[in-house]
Amino acid sequence: MRIPRAFIDEIIARSDIVSVIDRHIGLKKAGKNFTACCPFHNEKTPSFSVSSDKQFYHCFGCGASGNVISFLMEYSHLEFVEAIEMLAQQQGLSIPYEDDVSDHSNQQSTKTLYEILNEITEYYQRHLSAISLEYLKHRGLTQETIFKCGLGFAPAGWDNLLQRFPKEKHSQLLASGMIVEKEDGHFYDRFRQRIMFPIHDARGRVVAFGGRVLDDSKPKYLNSPETTIFHKSNVLYGLHWVKATKPKQIILVEGYMDVVVLLQYGITNAVATLGTTASDAHFSQLFREVGEVVCCFDGDAAGYKAAWRALETGLSHLRDGHQISFMFLPDGDDPDSLVKRETATGFQERLQQAQPLSTFLFSQLTQNLNLSTLEGRAKLAESARPLLGKIPHGAYRELLSAQLRELTGVVQNQNPKYEKKAPDATLPAPQIESSSTNILPLLRKILAFLIQNSFLISEIHERSFLKDLKINGISLLNNLVEFLIKNPQASGGMILEQWRGKKEFELVEKLLLWEHPLNEEGILLEFRDSLNKLETELTEQQIQILLRKKYYVGLNDDENKLLTDLINFKQRMI
Ligand code: UTP
Ligand code: MN
Repeated sequence: MRIPRAFIDEIIARSDIVSVIDRHIGLKKAGKNFTACCPFHNEKTPSFSVSSDKQFYHCFGCGASGNVISFLMEYSHLEFVEAIEMLAQQQGLSIPYEDDVSDHSNQQSTKTLYEILNEITEYYQRHLSAISLEYLKHRGLTQETIFKCGLGFAPAGWDNLLQRFPKEKHSQLLASGMIVEKEDGHFYDRFRQRIMFPIHDARGRVVAFGGRVLDDSKPKYLNSPETTIFHKSNVLYGLHWVKATKPKQIILVEGYMDVVVLLQYGITNAVATLGTTASDAHFSQLFREVGEVVCCFDGDAAGYKAAWRALETGLSHLRDGHQISFMFLPDGDDPDSLVKRETATGFQERLQQAQPLSTFLFSQLTQNLNLSTLEGRAKLAESARPLLGKIPHGAYRELLSAQLRELTGVVQNQNPKYEKKAPDATLPAPQIESSSTNILPLLRKILAFLIQNSFLISEIHERSFLKDLKINGISLLNNLVEFLIKNPQASGGMILEQWRGKKEFELVEKLLLWEHPLNEEGILLEFRDSLNKLETELTEQQIQILLRKKYYVGLNDDENKLLTDLINFKQRMI
């Protein structure tokens, strides 16, 4: 089920971010804005600021920022839908859920997919046979654990689910990934003779299965394919159990079995990715629950490699108050075997000794370097810089930079304050050869003005020149324009919401932070001026491209005419 976009917009428009946040942490008025000590990191003097105009908050200390929904998700540990539900309730509105028709091959509502997966979970539980129970017992699992984790067994045979469910449900079986279609149009059960691990989403609904063989045959685990309700890179096995215990720290392990066995040993804060590297979405979910994530890996070469990939993804989530550390197990062990041999206490002791991210980072980077040579130190500085650059601005990044300076003697950044001033939102490079470097800053400025001052949309209405361009970043502008034409009153927070989950989200967030000390009239003039400049730049650029083409390969009639028009247009503008 989906919540209609228009309803989300309405809810944001109706809620006032100042009163919502005030209710949770108490705000003080300070000039145009409201402030408090930041709820997302420890501080004594307030650097958390909430803007009523923008409907947006930002902490100058740790970099936390977002709209009213982001705040509820972060502060109250809510899922997106739960945050919407809470705001709707406060406004006395009920949510007009819609069936999800995004999968056009079948129009199954997702609700029935959840239902069918629940029924299948129970079906597998009822079919735990003597040999499957024997296997689980052999793996050391108790009845209680088996039940708690909903483990089951997919019996032998190709059509158990097909028989179990009436024909009219077969399309749902297909949509849920539980049956597979053959080339001849017939179907068969995906999972046969496997121990079945139901995989839940963060709200505790079964969205997929992992199935393990009872012997050494391959593949060891078979997982549900991606479906409308299951996206591997968004799901962490065990997260809904962990959430319920409200831990301070979450341990990220590699296998289903590891999570299950740790749980049995009373270590109730472990989750696993589903055989993939932890994604950005995974880290976001984890840091919504806790401040510290311990990534646990095998101590072999593959484990170190996997840990490094996790580090590279994790860096951009390390705003102040967030911590990642790394725990490497003895070669040949996984958490399952280790906790059985060393007990929960032994496991916890190892956990205490997990390496902070900084230790792991620098030990990896300096591995084959001789820091007593200039070359070695230069290499370190070179490889560390882009990595540290991924960390959000704040004390943690400063500390790591200081550590790097100490190791290399290279001055990174003499005045970090200065670096903070300019928004470092970078737009991707233009796809067309760009002779001019002025376009991207202009485009960024125009975006920032528009996002913060939706009234400017009336200025852009007629500017059709923006429509057919092929530079990256222009599609964001075009989408923004389209949205503002429909919603000319939109606040920054409401605009931001349009990009949640998309790659431009962070850029929009950064553009919202851009401060320009202008009054309304100043803004209007500056905006017009920027639009004119952009138009000139783009015209010039197009002319250059056409001229080059004319020189090398020649132009057709249309192109020749376009070139003449553009040159005339340019002369009129000057
Ligand atoms: P492992 O092989 O470490 O799994 O793979 P495990 O949990 O220790 O398995 P046991 O102890 O032998 O039962 C780690 C994870 O990688 C994915 C699964 O998510 C598994 O939990 N995986 C592994 C697959 O998806 N397919 C495979 O064939 C193997
Ligand atoms: Mn294992």
